[in-house]
Amino acid sequence: MIWIKQALWSSIGKKLMMAVTGLAFIGFLMAHLAGNLTIYGGGEAFNAYAEKLHSLGPLLIVFELGLVLFAGVHITTGIVLFLQNQQARPTGYSRYESSGGRTLSSRTMPYTGLIILGFVIFHLINFSFVDKADRTIYQIVSAAFANPVYVIIYIAVMIIVALHVRHGLWSAFQTLGGNHPKYMPAIMMLSVAIGLIVAVGFGFLPIYITLSV
Ligand code: HEM
Repeated sequence: MIWIKQALWSSIGKKLMMAVTGLAFIGFLMAHLAGNLTIYGGGEAFNAYAEKLHSLGPLLIVFELGLVLFAGVHITTGIVLFLQNQQARPTGYSRYESSGGRTLSSRTMPYTGLIILGFVIFHLINFSFVDKADRTIYQIVSAAFANPVYVIIYIAVMIIVALHVRHGLWSAFQTLGGNHPKYMPAIMMLSVAIGLIVAVGFGFLPIYITLSV
């Protein structure tokens, strides 16, 4: 048991945990986006999708517990890696990113990560932990996006999520051994493409809803 703990808490172990949990979150985001696209089919389609999801019952609870566990690992490990990098370079130079140059997304990973954490809590309070007894989920979402402040917050955060995902995906592939000149351009293009899908796919939803209510 102790050797597992030591292996996971080694330098490469922490990076591996970040990579695996990060990739799982990107998988969740893609599935969440696919489900949310039913919004374009109107209220009935979106409510039917949400009902189907909730009909999974215990399976959904297991999935949600998995998300919480992965979030705990990703956030704790991310904070530890960030603090270790700060200590290694007291001038504040962040070595969070690996080779390949510093970009806006790589430099801001800890900060975009914290913003996403705050957003997820805000998001769950608004859409998950609400009384759904006399309102459908479509009515709840439409009512939220009738407020322009919500629309602006969501669009801004979706750009931040896209930046985090863009560097995170690239970095995860590096950790998992994709650091080869042959694969680098393809990995870079895939990271940018997924970032764009997140920004445009999620970001356009509040605009569409606000225009259609
Ligand atoms: C325009 C963008 C988004 C919309 C309209 C949206 C909508 C929703 C709705 C309606 C729910 C509640 C579903 C239900 O209980 O029936 C939900 C849950 C959730 N959303 Fe989003 N979402 C968006 C973006 C995001 C993003 C970017 C993230 C993560 C960074 C995220 C993470 C979550 C999580 C973790 C849950 C809880 C899932 C569960 O309990 O199974 N969402 N979202």
